Amino acid sequence: MGSDIAQDGSLQLLEISESFIYARALHLAAELKLADLLADGPRPTAELAEASATRPAALYRLLRALAGRGVFTEVETGRFGLTPVGECLRSDHPRSVRATVAQAGRLTAKTFNHAEEVLRTGEGAFTTAFGQPVWDYLQEHPDEGADFDTAMHEHSRIERDAIVAAYDFSGTARLVDIGGGDGTLLATVLTAHPETAGVLFDLPHVVERHRIGDAGLTDRCEIVGGDVFGELPAGGDLYMMKSVLHGWTDREVVSILTGCRRAMKPDGTLLLIERVIPVGDTPHSSKAFDLAMLVMAGGQERTQDEYTELLTEAGFRVERVIGTDSSLSIVEAVPTGAAL
Ligand SMILES: C[S@@+](CC[C@H](N)C(=O)[O-])C[C@H]1O[C@@H](n2cnc3c(N)ncnc32)[C@H](O)[C@@H]1O
Repeated sequence: MGSDIAQDGSLQLLEISESFIYARALHLAAELKLADLLADGPRPTAELAEASATRPAALYRLLRALAGRGVFTEVETGRFGLTPVGECLRSDHPRSVRATVAQAGRLTAKTFNHAEEVLRTGEGAFTTAFGQPVWDYLQEHPDEGADFDTAMHEHSRIERDAIVAAYDFSGTARLVDIGGGDGTLLATVLTAHPETAGVLFDLPHVVERHRIGDAGLTDRCEIVGGDVFGELPAGGDLYMMKSVLHGWTDREVVSILTGCRRAMKPDGTLLLIERVIPVGDTPHSSKAFDLAMLVMAGGQERTQDEYTELLTEAGFRVERVIGTDSSLSIVEAVPTGAAL
């Protein structure tokens, strides 16, 4: 019995250890846009190799490995097609994650080479890996910055329906999305609620790439470029921040929250939309994201208690925490007393 468990334990550990090989293979498949090359159906490896400037024999081994994980399928020897899972790696798929996966290969994987240093110092390693802090790097490398925005768009596209289903946005007069990226989530809420006006707030070079116009909402949505540590758009009755606070330390989070408190109406509401870490050993994507945020930026995912503590310090009271049909939860908070 004991030795069976040990045997299973060994295999499980090896599986976890080897999973990085599949992760790296998937990053490469996304970077080489292999799924786009298969959009019209299965093709021989030689054609895919020519189109991706790779060696056929080497590419075959990558495709075969990922076929073993359900991404591609070898329909006949040396000829590969996409599975329904692999379809989501196509750039034009409505639930595509290609940009996210490719960028994880370029940025996250490289930064994780410095993870041991992070454990010793507690400081994020992006600057060590790339020579400057992440937001500066994305600004100075516009192609990488645009890819980051696309990756965030991909996340929001997958998550937005679950958020809109979980929270009742009706009756909101002015909704302010702080760190709203290209406006994917805000556009979804505004489309569902014609009575609501929106404000998209993010760094100036990021809001330049907004998608509010694509949704035909420019007449109902202000686009504001600025710094989340500076003055925030005032007068909203609902403020939201999705996947923003996890990038910052506790001190920085309190400063951002205090800025929101100052900007919002006294009877306003704040929504933090984040991966809230469940207590105990429950498997949850927040735990891997948390480690990634530490290694990348010195940020963190947080438990409900940790969010409550930071919100309290910034002059808010948590009303409720609402689960969604995604890995995100919505922490709803309201101001207590006068702004700090
Ligand atoms: C992880 S992304 C989330 C984007 C969007 N809320 C979403 O969920 O798709 C974090 C956002 O914070 C923005 N950001 C980072 N530093 C900022 C700053 N100092 N001021 C304003 N926005 C900032 C980034 O440009 C980015 O759009």
